[in-house]
Amino acid sequence: MKFASAPAKAILLGEHAVVYGQPAIAVPVTQLRAKVTVEPGGEGVRLIARDLGHSHIVGEGSPPESLKPLVALVESTLDYLGGERPALTITVESAIPIARGLGSGAAVSVALVRGLAAHWERRLDPQEVSALVYEAERFHHGTPSGIDHTVIAYGRPIYFQRGQEPQFLRVGRPFLLAIADSGVESPTKAVVEEVRQARDREPRRYEALFKEIGALVQEAKKALEEGELDRLGHLMDRNHPLLRDLGVSSPSLDGLVRAAKKAGAIGAKLSGAGQGGCVIALVREENREEVASALRGEGAQMTIVTEVS
Ligand code: MEV
Repeated sequence: MKFASAPAKAILLGEHAVVYGQPAIAVPVTQLRAKVTVEPGGEGVRLIARDLGHSHIVGEGSPPESLKPLVALVESTLDYLGGERPALTITVESAIPIARGLGSGAAVSVALVRGLAAHWERRLDPQEVSALVYEAERFHHGTPSGIDHTVIAYGRPIYFQRGQEPQFLRVGRPFLLAIADSGVESPTKAVVEEVRQARDREPRRYEALFKEIGALVQEAKKALEEGELDRLGHLMDRNHPLLRDLGVSSPSLDGLVRAAKKAGAIGAKLSGAGQGGCVIALVREENREEVASALRGEGAQMTIVTEVS
């Protein structure tokens, strides 16, 4: 039996604008992981998704809608690994809440490719994993920038611009992020599509917002590399209202951001596609608990604090 896993991710700054060519920064969230086991035996290539409560034999009829991207990924990965279809049972489980901006779909996909590669005793480099997963991600996201599966496949903080190799960030000073789940599901694909329609209606306004966000990201890259956490927090604070202007915040996300700031967070913003999902807050060791508890007090269903280094 082979095991593989992949972390969740959080977008530090730059979501949505990254779909339109601006840079963004993303970090892995290592405590939350998707896991895959691959066992020889059973009947054909069977994919079991524990959290979705679905199981499907690859190549036999049409899979349930929610399994389609994963089944397609199993097929393309098996082809990539040589085309054999031995009897295998692939079980997918994830501790990453679904549709909350934490990259659950991308993490499951990365773990799946790694698990299949491990079964064939192959080590795929992150670039190969990333390329295989991109196709499955298009299913989840419509027009993804590629940032989610890239940060997850590499497992390192990245500065990402669509169509370019990711740049790995040297974090000047390790920092803590409190992540709060609003509990509201918000599929990325739908929000990305809404932003696209809004941009088509008001191209000038949206392009200006994307540019402004891109400029914040460039400053944030410097702040992060120089260990200037106050500066980084301030840039996150400035990113949030721009996301609100894009139409992807919500009263509950705004409430969580305010609660984090009031409890002493250095910076706070929504993270990921928005409208639901998560808020992230840059916190200090001495106030991490206070901020996390303020976020729960404001209605967050789950909070974790993760170190980025
Ligand atoms: C989702 O994590 C980030 C978005 O910018 C979409 C994408 O980049 O594909 C909202």
